[in-house]
Amino acid sequence: MSDGLDLRVLGSTGLEVTPLCVGASPLGNTPGAYRYEVSLEDALATVRRTLDGPINFLDTGNNYGDSERRIGLVLRERGGVPGGFVLATKVDRDMTTGDFSGDRVRRSVEESLERLGLDRLGLVHFHDPENISFEEGVAPGGPLETLQALKEEGVIAHLGVAGGPIDLLRRYIRTGAFSVVLTHNRYSLIDQSAEPLFEEAGELGVAVLNAAPFGGGVLAGAPHTQGYYGYEEAGPEILARIEALHAACARHDVPLAAAAVQFSTRDPRIVSTIVGVSKPERVDRLVELAQTPIPPDLWDELNPPTREGSA
Ligand SMILES: NC(=O)c1ccc[n+]([C@@H]2O[C@H](COP(=O)([O-])OP(=O)(O)OC[C@H]3O[C@@H](n4cnc5c(N)ncnc54)[C@H](OP(=O)(O)O)[C@@H]3O)[C@@H](O)[C@H]2O)c1
Repeated sequence: MSDGLDLRVLGSTGLEVTPLCVGASPLGNTPGAYRYEVSLEDALATVRRTLDGPINFLDTGNNYGDSERRIGLVLRERGGVPGGFVLATKVDRDMTTGDFSGDRVRRSVEESLERLGLDRLGLVHFHDPENISFEEGVAPGGPLETLQALKEEGVIAHLGVAGGPIDLLRRYIRTGAFSVVLTHNRYSLIDQSAEPLFEEAGELGVAVLNAAPFGGGVLAGAPHTQGYYGYEEAGPEILARIEALHAACARHDVPLAAAAVQFSTRDPRIVSTIVGVSKPERVDRLVELAQTPIPPDLWDELNPPTREGSA
């Protein structure tokens, strides 16, 4: 019997990934973003647990605190990325100066290689391009051209673009440079504003990854995220929606976290859903949540979603 984690092809990359991906931003210990500390011990145990399967996909980034270095410690124990496992990372601007030039992109990749202990990278996203203008992003010698050069040099196998504003992601996938697009917090039980991106990505043959189905944790009941959605304080409309979601799930005796993750995993337009965890037992719980039976009546109650976020 299928465990619901059958491999799917990540678009034109040809990589085969599970419909769940472990997101490694919390395990980098970034209390500024997540409002809690994550010990080195918990982070290493989470990475080890992830590499043991059944999930075969781990998502990190240059600016996820200590995440890449921590992952690299485990990769060194294991002798590299295990066969059949897919590791994605992201190039980031200089977080002090804001520099997101082509040179900075090369340095970002060098840093990632060094921390991860690898000599090439399988999948690299252009991360949060909203921090510069589109014109700067595609300028000669700029970040996009540099990523393409790194791909031609064989340092990076596949390119993705990962960020917030939907219209900007749409502009980037139209360049034809990216095989993958990653959106976050914009396709969940709270916010479905990524819809037009999914449509366009489908037309262009760009594979979609959907991150943060818990809206940063609130839909999983993570204690430090109550009152927040997508890392920001939630307004009254969102808080009311969350309460209504809790009530509907309680009536059907289904954990809200299960509905939240399956809202994404059940959507055929999404190749994989990225969920942040920083404790090893969370990996097993995530698999359970993705497999929890959800009655059709509950889906009827949860839909139609209430809010369109900002593009
Ligand atoms: N711009 C971008 O490219 C971008 C933006 C956002 C996210 N991402 C990627 O997507 C991933 C997911 O986003 P996210 O981590 O911000 O948000 P998320 O997946 O919506 O939620 C993660 C939070 O939920 C908590 N959680 C997970 N399972 C739980 C459970 N069973 N019970 C209670 N709490 C649970 C985690 O807590 P613990 O830490 O305690 O396990 C963590 O605080 C990131 O890690 C990152 O890899 C990318």
